[in-house]
Amino acid sequence: MKNQYFIVHQITNTSSCKKTSRCGKSGMTAALNAVMNGGLTGGGAVAAQKTVLITGVSRGLGKALAVEIAKRGHSVIGCSRSQEKLDSLQSELCSGPSSSSSSSEKHLFLNADVCSNSGVQELARVVMEKKGVPDIIVNNAGTINKNNRLWEVPEEEFNAVIDTNLKGIANMLRHFIPLMIEKKQGILVNMSSGWGRSAAAQVAPYCASKWAVEGLTKSVAKELPAGMAIVALNPGVINTEMLQSCFGSSSGMYQAPDSWAPKAADMILNLTVADNGASLSV
Ligand SMILES: NC(=O)c1ccc[n+]([C@@H]2O[C@H](COP(=O)([O-])OP(=O)(O)OC[C@H]3O[C@@H](n4cnc5c(N)ncnc54)[C@H](OP(=O)(O)O)[C@@H]3O)[C@@H](O)[C@H]2O)c1
Repeated sequence: MKNQYFIVHQITNTSSCKKTSRCGKSGMTAALNAVMNGGLTGGGAVAAQKTVLITGVSRGLGKALAVEIAKRGHSVIGCSRSQEKLDSLQSELCSGPSSSSSSSEKHLFLNADVCSNSGVQELARVVMEKKGVPDIIVNNAGTINKNNRLWEVPEEEFNAVIDTNLKGIANMLRHFIPLMIEKKQGILVNMSSGWGRSAAAQVAPYCASKWAVEGLTKSVAKELPAGMAIVALNPGVINTEMLQSCFGSSSGMYQAPDSWAPKAADMILNLTVADNGASLSV
């Protein structure tokens, strides 16, 4: 107990903890979570190595998060539909200054479309074969409709938003939750949005999908057994291709994915079962 107090006291004074506080969690809660997780981030202490599966790692938030989490010594499993970008991320992570001969086996990047239930089933099979059950899954893959009033959004575009943002997450949960239940542990993060909690003109399909992500997350939280947690995470406003699609040139005023990723990684790596059902913001 004394030791725990000492650790909590130490990490509430690190810059990593201050960053987490800005993410909406108190420094003390984040510190306690870090202790409960059996590891610390920042402050020079080494965190327990985790396996983190992130969907949509070819660009934007997913890529920045994958790079940040790998930099911290964790093992990353990533997927997207662009093989070329997956290959380039694999080389980036396996040929950096901190890479070793085992780096190429540490991370796993797979071509998978979250909209395809059978594709996600195959993803789960390969992940189990090569890495086992992930400790954390970040359901990040997403898409947005081109700015338009709802009645001007083509049916295929509306469907693509729902198929990716909502049904894509459901596909991931369908195939990975039973594996986590068997292991009796697992943290699931569903990428939501400010527009999953508020509304805006021209992005009704996207808002509908993210409000649905919030509802789905809270329902599933009530179904999970002890030892597991699922949360909805609003990442904030970050300058990615998706933001450029809806904000145009003013997206340049917002933070870059690389500056966002350390705060997001602090938060995601420190989630615990106590967070089950929460709607959080970076
Ligand atoms: N940027 C923001 O300000 C912001 C704000 C609120 C919420 N978000 C949420 O954060 C998440 C990431 O957004 P972002 O801004 O990084 O978007 P982005 O730059 O457009 O990147 C989206 C990623 O999702 C992948 N993806 C899309 N459809 C997929 C599919 N069917 N299967 C697998 N991967 C797929 C894309 O890869 P491929 O195309 O290569 O498959 C890409 O890697 C999204 O859920 C978004 O709604 C972002």
